[in-house]
Amino acid sequence: MSRTLAVEASGIGFTYQEGTRALESVDFWVESGEFVAMLASNGSGKTTLIKVLVGLLKPDQGTVKIYGQDIRRLSRRDLCRQVGLVLQNPVDQLFAATVEEDVAYGPRNLGLSEAEVQLRVSESLESVTAAELRCRAIHHLSFGEQKRVSMAGVLAMRPSTLILDEPTAGLDPAGEAQMMRLLNRLNREQGITVILATHSVDLLPLFADRIYVLQRGRVLKQGPAPEIFCDHEMIDQACLRLPYIAALLHKMKQTDGVRINGLPLTIGEARMRLLELIPEDMIMKPAAEQDLGKTKSESKE
Ligand SMILES: Nc1ncnc2c1ncn2[C@@H]1O[C@H](COP(=O)(O)OP(=O)(O)OP(=O)(O)O)[C@@H](O)[C@H]1O
Ligand SMILES: [Mg+2]
Repeated sequence: MSRTLAVEASGIGFTYQEGTRALESVDFWVESGEFVAMLASNGSGKTTLIKVLVGLLKPDQGTVKIYGQDIRRLSRRDLCRQVGLVLQNPVDQLFAATVEEDVAYGPRNLGLSEAEVQLRVSESLESVTAAELRCRAIHHLSFGEQKRVSMAGVLAMRPSTLILDEPTAGLDPAGEAQMMRLLNRLNREQGITVILATHSVDLLPLFADRIYVLQRGRVLKQGPAPEIFCDHEMIDQACLRLPYIAALLHKMKQTDGVRINGLPLTIGEARMRLLELIPEDMIMKPAAEQDLGKTKSESKE
């Protein structure tokens, strides 16, 4: 059975006015309900592609469809209801004096009743675990808090798809993991399609259904994390790296001849594979069966 495509961009080409060819023949599609990441080195075209997908930049080649409709035929209002964009820098997104005013802005613009506006403000702040920030001044918030509040402002429009440009950039390791878990929850519990550009390569195998690798404005490869990270040549070509745990085990396989099945991408998977190699009588304490951590694609099987 074919699934609905939330986003379908075909043959996208884009050149900036001063001559940089930022995108070339890009095909990019995301099914409704998927969690998809763009992974690429700096200057590869992630932000440009995101801007094309939300209609902020008009491609000189190709078409973009949102839920089957050509983006050129959608009004900005209809587009905003379907796709929410979270910019990399929250300062570019936040503009009101207080958190409540900022998050209420979009729903008020839709002409909703004040009761509905307040409900949406509460719900969206709660969903980004920022309810306690409601009455705070925007300019007093930390960077991580600003990120979550700017997401709440977008969620208050109840978009079916959320597109985020480097949502984890500038966050500390705990904030990075919290942001990825939050996006995972929005995806799993609310069914929101998530598309993000990111450099969080160590966390992606836990959350992403599929990964697009871009290089110099082209798609080098797309697929689930195990398919992406087993292609070492492509990873090198794209100037990317393996998740650290995968790099360690790959090195142990190559250099030390350790016979590990497959290439574990997460700590949970690596632990499972390494335990398989250790004779049972060498293990003092039996390993718990739960929490052996599979990649997202494996856990879906
Ligand atoms: N406004 C602009 N005018 C001219 N060239 C631009 C503009 N914005 C981006 N570019 C160029 O387009 C190419 C793609 O840039 P883009 O910002 O899309 O990359 P990116 O993958 O998002 O990079 P990063 O990881 O650094 O955010 C780069 O060569 C960049 O210099
Ligand atoms: Mg960018």
